[in-house]
Amino acid sequence: MTLKILPLVFLAVAGITLSAQKPSLRQIPLDQGWVFNPSDNPAFADAGLNDGTWRPIKVNVNWDEQGQEELIGYAWYRLRFMLPKGMRDEDKLKEGLLLALGKIDDGDQVFLNGEFLGQNGRTFAPETEPPEFKTGPWDLERVYRLAADDPRIKWGQENLIAVRVVNPNGAGGMYGGGQHIRLVGLKDFVDFQADMTPFTFYGNEVVKTFDMINRSDKIAMSGTLSIEAKGLISGKKVTQNRKTIDLAPGEKMPVNVRLGQRDEACEISYQIVFKDGETCEYRDESPYILTPPVPSSPRINGAAVFGAKPDKPFLYTVAASGDRPMTFSASELPDGLTIDAQTGVITGITPVRGTYKVKITAKNIRGIAVRDLEIISGDRLALTPPMGWNSWNCWGTAVDEEKVVASAKNFVEKGLRDHGWAYINIDDGWQIAGRSPDPKRDSDGNILINNKFPDMARLGRRIHDLGLKFGIYSSPGPLTCGGYTGSYQHEQNDADSYASWGVDFLKYDWCSYRRIANDTSIAELKKPYEVMRDALDKGDRDIVLSLCQYGMGNVWEWGESVGGQLWRTTHDITDTWESMSGIGFSQVSNAPYAKPGSWNDPDMLVIGWVGWGPNLHPTRLRPDEQYTHISLWCLLSAPLLIGCDLTRLDPFTLNLITNDEVLAVNQDALGKQATPKIKEGQIQVWVKELHDGGSAVGIFNLGDETADFEVNFETLGVKDGKKLRDLWRQKDIGPLNKKHSTRISPHGVVLLKVI
Ligand code: GLA
Repeated sequence: MTLKILPLVFLAVAGITLSAQKPSLRQIPLDQGWVFNPSDNPAFADAGLNDGTWRPIKVNVNWDEQGQEELIGYAWYRLRFMLPKGMRDEDKLKEGLLLALGKIDDGDQVFLNGEFLGQNGRTFAPETEPPEFKTGPWDLERVYRLAADDPRIKWGQENLIAVRVVNPNGAGGMYGGGQHIRLVGLKDFVDFQADMTPFTFYGNEVVKTFDMINRSDKIAMSGTLSIEAKGLISGKKVTQNRKTIDLAPGEKMPVNVRLGQRDEACEISYQIVFKDGETCEYRDESPYILTPPVPSSPRINGAAVFGAKPDKPFLYTVAASGDRPMTFSASELPDGLTIDAQTGVITGITPVRGTYKVKITAKNIRGIAVRDLEIISGDRLALTPPMGWNSWNCWGTAVDEEKVVASAKNFVEKGLRDHGWAYINIDDGWQIAGRSPDPKRDSDGNILINNKFPDMARLGRRIHDLGLKFGIYSSPGPLTCGGYTGSYQHEQNDADSYASWGVDFLKYDWCSYRRIANDTSIAELKKPYEVMRDALDKGDRDIVLSLCQYGMGNVWEWGESVGGQLWRTTHDITDTWESMSGIGFSQVSNAPYAKPGSWNDPDMLVIGWVGWGPNLHPTRLRPDEQYTHISLWCLLSAPLLIGCDLTRLDPFTLNLITNDEVLAVNQDALGKQATPKIKEGQIQVWVKELHDGGSAVGIFNLGDETADFEVNFETLGVKDGKKLRDLWRQKDIGPLNKKHSTRISPHGVVLLKVI
């Protein structure tokens, strides 16, 4: 096996890169030398405080990764640095200083030389009293601005920054790296909207037009903008363009990018050179579609095995792509079940325990498809990882009934149901907020719903009528993570309500139960889930139980024993490479626990328009990173819960979630979880054993440069196979030789099947 890095050099980071900067006078790095105290005391803001005994801490990774696991509450960070007088003389724009503190999970109050400077990324005027300390967005870059004559700055002297951090749950602290203080430059007034504008597919081209805006109200901008695009696999320069920038204060100009559609992503660099020599650069990647169009003849997709409990209402929708109208039939359906010939929805009451082998037929004018479906009536649900949509990553607590119904309709209209997508899950935000003066429950203890969800039972019916399943969210604590009413001491009330609304899936999120649990022993970690499972089992429905407690106490070792079908293994995901790859590639030690009905959940998908509500943005993952995300989650047998606005699905995102051969890796009936077989430099090869004796092989490039790699299948321990297939392209790539050479783009993947 050899690893060769191509002589192509690609810049690592997306977003702004300041190149021609004199580091000494214009910018001072502040990413080293911080000290830390995991307690809370207002005196920690004082410049004169002796912090000599505080322990050193890194500010590029959160405190959990530095021995402060489970630190819930407050902690302080402090740093001393010199601010040279000469820096002030360099301030030609007279716009003062910018203090960048990276990301802070979850809230920060910042003090400069003992004086309050700002909170959660908002700068306050000198001599303002700190407002009530609240958590802020955990994923926001904290940036504070100061005029050069701000009395809190000490020019030519040592300065002290003190940061008070609060973390109510999960990981905490300063992270992200890149902390610095610098002079405000022209680039700070550039609003370059490339990231906010996805490419659209237009004929044989991908195009986008976005604005570059001068956000200054007094400074004009002039210079040049050079645009260059280069294939990430071929290394070929695809386009080059130059534009003059001449923007009055507040003015904007359109920027167009137009590229031919290709079989690879192109890296696009936008380089701005201002008249005064200051430069800045933005980066972008063009999307490319690998999934071939769906054939017009019928094809039956999705899980070929389905588990349900005897005597409970049954709902399974045959996922079949192809032109409509289509008719469905099923031979040897057990008594009590019927299939709707027009929709392919199988309903009824689950028969007595046993395994029922059913033959499903789907017909249209183009042809006929026949496939086996195994219905297993027994104790196990979710025999393959649940596939669906969840409201959190897009709408956060801004979710409402209309948005949920729109998602369900889009599952049908955009054909997602035909590829096996089934669950429509409401996350947090449907209950009455804990801080609201309104009653949270009726006199019988039944939970009340906020006015964004007028009628849950009706919503459940609307979802079921589309052949889809209905999911909901709660917490075993008094409050959910978003501060809404939880199930504490009302578990049976809530389970009864869910059953009466037709709920099929419950995500049960630890959060404020932290205050209830006596300790973090396994027995205490299990308890709330046992209570809820018991309550759910008293009802007459199959309700999949999703444990959300971020992996505490190695939940994968006991999640099944408390009646869970899936369990979150990590803290919350966000739409960055660091987050997605950090989570995805660390799912290793839990692999032996994945099996039909028991799934490790590395959190929901971050593709498409996301934002945690109410405002959404296109995912910050680049196209190749999104191929990696889906490939890895399929290899991991991870639950697939789409977290984006389905009304804004573009052809690229649709291509990611409708590739039946890729999804089949996820839905494989053997239920194994892939493990990494090779880690060589930036290359990782993950292999998942499949029920047909084949193997799915993901060759990932975690590096920032395109790489060539030769896989030796013998070393991989992959069972002898006859052929090699490229799953994204759905194409055979020849008989299996011992070795296979491939080129992988930065943060990209090649997903193969050996059979
Ligand atoms: C936690 C969970 C998220 C989401 C929110 C809702 O952070 O991990 O997935 O459910 O709570 O508040």
